[in-house]
Amino acid sequence: MAGRFSQQNQRVRPSSKEDQVVLKAREHFERTLIPVRGQLAGSVAALEHPRHDEALNYGEIFLRDNVPVMVYLLTQKRFDIVKQFLSICLDLQSTTYQTRGVFPTSFVEEKGQLIADYGQRSIGRITSVDASLWWPVLCWMYVKSSGDEEFGSSQAVQRGVQLLLDLVLHPTFEGTPVLFVPDCAFMIDRPMDVWGAPLEVEVLLYGSLRCCAQIMELGRKHHGSRLLDQRLILTRQWVHDLRQFLLKHYWVTSKTMQVLRRRPTEQYGDNQHQNEFNVQPQVIPDWLQDWLENRGGYLIGNIRTGRPDFRFYSLGNSLGCLFGLLTAPQQRALFRLTLHNRDHLMAEMPMRICHPPMESLEWQNKTGSDPKNWPWSYHNGGHWPSLLWFFGSSILLHERRHPHADVLLMGQMKALLEECYWSHLNQLPRQQWAEYFDGPTGTWVGQQSRTYQTWTIVGFLLLHQFLRVNPDDVLLLDLDEGAVPDPDSIDSPVRHND
Ligand code: GLC
Repeated sequence: MAGRFSQQNQRVRPSSKEDQVVLKAREHFERTLIPVRGQLAGSVAALEHPRHDEALNYGEIFLRDNVPVMVYLLTQKRFDIVKQFLSICLDLQSTTYQTRGVFPTSFVEEKGQLIADYGQRSIGRITSVDASLWWPVLCWMYVKSSGDEEFGSSQAVQRGVQLLLDLVLHPTFEGTPVLFVPDCAFMIDRPMDVWGAPLEVEVLLYGSLRCCAQIMELGRKHHGSRLLDQRLILTRQWVHDLRQFLLKHYWVTSKTMQVLRRRPTEQYGDNQHQNEFNVQPQVIPDWLQDWLENRGGYLIGNIRTGRPDFRFYSLGNSLGCLFGLLTAPQQRALFRLTLHNRDHLMAEMPMRICHPPMESLEWQNKTGSDPKNWPWSYHNGGHWPSLLWFFGSSILLHERRHPHADVLLMGQMKALLEECYWSHLNQLPRQQWAEYFDGPTGTWVGQQSRTYQTWTIVGFLLLHQFLRVNPDDVLLLDLDEGAVPDPDSIDSPVRHND
């Protein structure tokens, strides 16, 4: 199968340098892998990092940067590295009172000592919430693709999942199913006014809880307990409520905007549910009209009392597709929106992290004049090639799940993806696999960009894998696919109330 696909491709683009680029990228990738406790355990964030500046940590293994690394290793059936990575993260899960259950942002071995950063060394000293949420997702993908149920049901993994769940499933001052976080708590780790319930964290929470449930189901199969049953019920309820919440408050289309603009404001009391967050119509930005056109839709960046964040975040929206948070028609509305706005979102270097950027006074006030996040740069409207594989996989997975739906649109999406892939293929080697790109079209290498950035390299390799080598590998990302069957359903909470 693999051979057939690559031959087909060679017929289409006989004169390309594709094979050489892929070969080189693979070589670079091998050099990113480093050992911990004598065994390969993951990739450094970037290959060329200034070795003498100890405060810079691109030579460490970042959990989030290793997401595409681990997925790629799974496609290569290099399960031992993935298991070592997962085990080390588990060993490093925090046990101190205030952060119990949190996974580190990054770690590295120095002189035989494992050193982990839980945020105490980062800009702003913020904990990366996304790192903790990614762990169960990667763990579940590993278990289902390697078949290593023994690892999944082991005491260590089951305990790790419970510790993580303690951070989410506990009483709070809030009655909503979202996780509240400070600014800078995920990939966007410099000030960008993304505090509260930012899309990426909430969608990741959704995927993470779904994977926790799958892992707990495995544990139940091997050594069930009433506590586990109760946790499963609670987790599934949470997943359900979170999805309802996100679809209700974050999903917008041209149609929903027309309703939102004409809602009453200043509502309180039990029966007034049209405008719970008291959003005034004046806060709806003008650019949204063309952005949504007739049939587009997307998940907005955040909902907060009176101040929704209408910016478009590529990763949160892609994950909304991959994790099955969005319905199939909603996913296609998102694809239409991307196609319609491709000059913004893809341009010369797919794909932009967040749109539109904040400029002048808004940039000053909301980023605290952050010098790296200036308009059209870095997190503030910069282009990150490492994001394309997430969006590309959403298209490919959608096509696998719904092969007959809107064939015309999906054909256009596949063509768009091909073009984006070719932009990477042609530009990234020349630009030394840069971390990010600047400017309205993303043509310029990021002003402070690292080179030979691992997730840029491996993101490209992953797309190559899905498009050319083995299209079936995209199913790895399907959280439902290969799920361990549920022999005696635990749907009835009544059974456990005795
Ligand atoms: C930057 C990015 C962050 C990434 C890290 C290592 O801090 O903002 O998302 O994990 O670099 O590549």
